[in-house]
Amino acid sequence: MYINTKIAGEIYYVGVNDRIKEKFENMLPLPYGVSYNSYLIADEKVALIDTVEASHGDIFIQKIQSQLQGRNIDYLIINHMEPDHSGSITQLRKYYPNVTIVGNKRTLEMVEGYYGIDDNTMEIKDGDQLSLGHHQLTFYLTPMVHWPETMMTYDKTEKVLFSGDAFGCFGTLDGGVLDTEINLDKYWDEMYRYYANIVGKYGSPVQKALQKLASLEIQYICTTHGPVWHGNISKVVDIYDRLSRYEGCEGVVIVYASMYGNTEQMAEAVAQGLVRNGIKDVVMHNVAKSDASVILSDIFKYKGLVIGGPTYSNELHPDIHSLLTKIELRQVKNRDFGFFGSFSWAGVSGKKLAEFGENMKWCMVDDRVEEKMALKKDNYLKCLDLGKNLAELLRTPDTKDENSD
Ligand code: FEO
Repeated sequence: MYINTKIAGEIYYVGVNDRIKEKFENMLPLPYGVSYNSYLIADEKVALIDTVEASHGDIFIQKIQSQLQGRNIDYLIINHMEPDHSGSITQLRKYYPNVTIVGNKRTLEMVEGYYGIDDNTMEIKDGDQLSLGHHQLTFYLTPMVHWPETMMTYDKTEKVLFSGDAFGCFGTLDGGVLDTEINLDKYWDEMYRYYANIVGKYGSPVQKALQKLASLEIQYICTTHGPVWHGNISKVVDIYDRLSRYEGCEGVVIVYASMYGNTEQMAEAVAQGLVRNGIKDVVMHNVAKSDASVILSDIFKYKGLVIGGPTYSNELHPDIHSLLTKIELRQVKNRDFGFFGSFSWAGVSGKKLAEFGENMKWCMVDDRVEEKMALKKDNYLKCLDLGKNLAELLRTPDTKDENSD
């Protein structure tokens, strides 16, 4: 049996923890695991909001059964169809065959496409309401946060927003669910990493969703990953607002590739130049060692970015090239950018990195440092200048906002 955590009113947490999966979506490391959150509203009518990944379906069903003690589920409300949340729909229907699946048009297309289910469904539209008795629900469509069918469900009675992936983070829930009852230290960086890697491309839809929800009075945010937010609602909304506007803190991420240490010496010199000119937050990543998801997280966090790498077979170093494609994919905006490169007989990386910065429409420092073989005094001094000039650029207020939508 399970004694589920009560959130508010008749709302219970019935989610699960995954400490087995190595990589989320087979891409993103999970050092603290991940939770798949689901919520049960045991009112006159019973509603379940989202399910969990199929691997944890048995525990999930046991938690629901412990709460309902033989009662049926009337509605399964699907805020998000990605399989980490929809994966137990088929199993749930075996135990609760009469459950009505509630979703918008895009949701129901996916329910049929993924699971072959086209019966016992209820299509809702933006703003539609559903009464469970005491609890009164309203549905808000929030497309592309971060899939096309994503929506949120608001419980007007208890002022609870069921937000899907929005405001979520990696990290299991180790004995507690509400943010007011647990130590949150591990979750904050994992929220940045979650946002940067999963939601990062969709800043504009996130902004639209935040505006749509702005007038709601919210006491609890029940996301599909990580803690239920109650004592930190303004903080998590502020983090999402800043990230979705691509607003970075004053600080610089230096990412470099270096096969023999020469390019690394250039990175060290740029860092010196930054710190000597007042930039305290300088985060350095050796692209061969740091996971790309962590690098991306820091790129979303800080306004400054410096990338350096050697020319490799007349191209960019492949690890740097891979990182650039991940940044391009997320269409990161409004960064202050510098770059440097090195080569042994033919310099290509500097030109390619310059093209990259121009294509991203970022502000760039004028310094273009490219060293032949080992780092020598004149280019060492130029790397210091690059850091100095980037520090000045970071302190210059933005005068253009064409990239901010
Ligand atoms: Fe947690 Fe977009 O799935």
